[in-house]
Amino acid sequence: MNVLRFFVVLLGGLVAAQQQALMDYLETRLLAIEDRISLWHEQTSRYTSELRELKQQIGAQLEGLDKNKETLRSELDAVGVRVDRVEREMDYLETQNGAQPCVDVDDKLVEQQVTVAKERNKSKYANLTALSRTVVKCAIGQTEEFKVEVGLHQGSALSPFLFAMVMDQLSEEVRQESPWTMMFADDIVICSESREQVKQNLERWRFALERRGMIFSRNCSDMVSRIKGMKILKRAGGVKGMWTKDMGVSTAKVYLFNGTGEDTLYEFSSVRDFTSSLGIAAGKAVQLPSSWQGMGHAVYKNHLYYVKVSEEIKLVKFDLQKGSVVDSAVFPAKDQLPVYSLNSETYIDLAIDEEGLWAIYATKNNEKHVSLAKVDPKTLAIEQMWDTPCSRENAEAAFVVCGTVYVVYNSKLPSRSRIQCVFDVSDMVTNDDAPTVYFPKRSAAHSSLKYSPMEQLVYAWDDGYQILYKLQMKKKLDV
Ligand SMILES: *[C@@H]1O[C@H](CO)[C@@H](O)[C@H](O)[C@H]1NC(C)=O
Ligand SMILES: *[C@@H]1O[C@H](CO)[C@@H](O)[C@H](O)[C@H]1NC(C)=O
Ligand SMILES: *[C@@H]1O[C@H](CO)[C@@H](O)[C@H](O)[C@H]1NC(C)=O
Ligand SMILES: *[C@@H]1O[C@H](CO)[C@@H](O)[C@H](O)[C@H]1NC(C)=O
Repeated sequence: MNVLRFFVVLLGGLVAAQQQALMDYLETRLLAIEDRISLWHEQTSRYTSELRELKQQIGAQLEGLDKNKETLRSELDAVGVRVDRVEREMDYLETQNGAQPCVDVDDKLVEQQVTVAKERNKSKYANLTALSRTVVKCAIGQTEEFKVEVGLHQGSALSPFLFAMVMDQLSEEVRQESPWTMMFADDIVICSESREQVKQNLERWRFALERRGMIFSRNCSDMVSRIKGMKILKRAGGVKGMWTKDMGVSTAKVYLFNGTGEDTLYEFSSVRDFTSSLGIAAGKAVQLPSSWQGMGHAVYKNHLYYVKVSEEIKLVKFDLQKGSVVDSAVFPAKDQLPVYSLNSETYIDLAIDEEGLWAIYATKNNEKHVSLAKVDPKTLAIEQMWDTPCSRENAEAAFVVCGTVYVVYNSKLPSRSRIQCVFDVSDMVTNDDAPTVYFPKRSAAHSSLKYSPMEQLVYAWDDGYQILYKLQMKKKLDV
């Protein structure tokens, strides 16, 4: 509600006098709804219809607005979007409330535990879950107490409530009145009168959250805005392959992986050494104990991570300095499929960004789309998984920058490659604010694209050519 009010207040300054009346009216309406929202337990359906009515009224007023007032129009559109969203949230709460009797957590209990966790505030967030025990109140009574051993379940009916309760405690001292701080399900909007103040407020939030063991990622806030340039370095090797630097340490060395199922890679001391060599085989050969599958390998902090397919799909971690396998693990996703339709050899595409190691993959379970997982490079364990909205169809490769996966599409007859779908695990970049990014004009069929966070370069293998693309970045959120 506060969001609506904020927009309306903001609009107040923009509109001419004849619209002022409308705005006042809207504001009164919203205030009324706001009061009543606190009683929504009793009357959810009525609020929803009221909101619908309000939205219709806004729509009707929009129709009548002077065509020149484009800014006003777009502001009002934004209000419409917000109303839509509130409506969806109300619908959601309604269904959760009505249909399922087993979602009524004993708030007090959870709240108590949050307080306990808060008291032991030296401990990390893990402690907060380690300490948590809860019960669920059903129509037939209360369940036995059980431990909450995982974080919030994606999609669970309880998640928004638990999240809100925890955030409520955690942000107690930094939260301001609306419209300066607005919390919406899992989004927090921080408003200020100047850019400087927003930054200061953000710092206060960071301090408050980190003090309690939460992680506040502020480092990595870049997104790709365009491809600034390309350099074709050499043509060496077959149609498909991969080349990369060590993306985790500062080194000049490059590694070449010719083909989609070999067991020998070639190491060069620098890009120059590679470009001036007679061919791939002029590099230092590194023999692996088993062959790799596809083009999805990654070199990170002196280790090679590659995919081996036998009965199962395994990740293998190979120490490039010692020349031996240090670990291998079955990738815990059932019924895997080739992740990109245009490069069917790659099942798992490993990617490195500023935040570490990622796996881009696909499964029968979600066969139309690309999935993403954060992998712990030390243990090869999966830390978290996401289903992205990005289609596998006509995808040729992908890379990850600052927690955002960029999926690159092409056509069966190679034409211009383009980034046409993005997915940001922090939810700051959506497809709407990431316009299609085209690769430079050239008929290309990339078999791999490997992003180097230290150089903001993409190492590409295109039909036997080794190419470097320079990326231009911009801020995800312009604060
Ligand atoms: C919580 O942490 C703050 C700062 O780290 C400290 O001053 C305070 O005493 C702690 N509270 C408890 C109950 O441990
Ligand atoms: C909570 O964190 C503290 C300090 O980080 C640690 O010593 C303790 O073992 C943790 N407790 C649990 C239950 O994980
Ligand atoms: C944040 O950035 C600084 C400097 O750019 C870097 O030293 C630090 O390791 C980064 N932290 C994380 C968590 O990535
Ligand atoms: C690279 O791979 C291609 C086919 O995949 C093969 O024809 C060629 O001989 C390989 N080159 C080297 C140097 O291994």
